[in-house]
Amino acid sequence: MNKILFVNACARGEQSRTLKITRRFLEEYKKLNPEDSITHLDLYDLALNCLTGETLALREQLLQENNLEHELFNLAKQFAAANKIIIAAPFWDLSFPAVLKVYIEQISVMGITFGYENDKPIGLCKAEKLLYITTRGGEYSHGFTKELEMGERYIKALCVLYGIKNVISICAEGLDMVGNDAAEIVNNAIKEAVEIAKTF
Ligand SMILES: Cc1cc2nc3c(=O)[nH]c(=O)nc-3n(C[C@H](O)[C@H](O)[C@H](O)COP(=O)(O)O)c2cc1C
Repeated sequence: MNKILFVNACARGEQSRTLKITRRFLEEYKKLNPEDSITHLDLYDLALNCLTGETLALREQLLQENNLEHELFNLAKQFAAANKIIIAAPFWDLSFPAVLKVYIEQISVMGITFGYENDKPIGLCKAEKLLYITTRGGEYSHGFTKELEMGERYIKALCVLYGIKNVISICAEGLDMVGNDAAEIVNNAIKEAVEIAKTF
């Protein structure tokens, strides 16, 4: 049985196109892998705080004492233990919503999700695969705007740190551009999601 972690950073609930694509992926995945357990983590429900001087000092102290039992490390341990991870996040301000960055601050703990060996980072996460699902108002996968895209690229860089080798992404873009058929673009992404679910 695989432990699947679904991290939801979609703010708009039922209106979210990103979540719509992700739900269809999860539905298909569940059908094909009924024995796997899927944990849903809704980041907006968690009401996470960004790291402060105080929490950093506590974290440092706990790490020095080798005390990883504190609740401060729960999210990092959960992320490190998952066999497969799905992150759903819309494209905001060239990357993703701040709530996902706050989550990343919580899970990026040396000794849990990554470490260092001979001054080189080594990933400590179990996950063999991570699927990043996003939707964008504009188009950022080609042309000069490609370099401005910081969401998917940032997640891929983090996965190098965490040791997650296989990062797959699904992206429906151009959804808010005049003349584009947003429903059709989303439906195409759903078809892609259903295909990916077969081998994820
Ligand atoms: C706060 C905010 C920031 C956004 N920033 C960008 C952006 O930088 N570039 C872009 O192409 N679209 C941007 N968009 C549009 C969204 O990427 C697009 O509407 C997306 O499909 C929303 O996903 P959702 O339907 O899952 O909420 C932004 C939307 C919001 C609400």
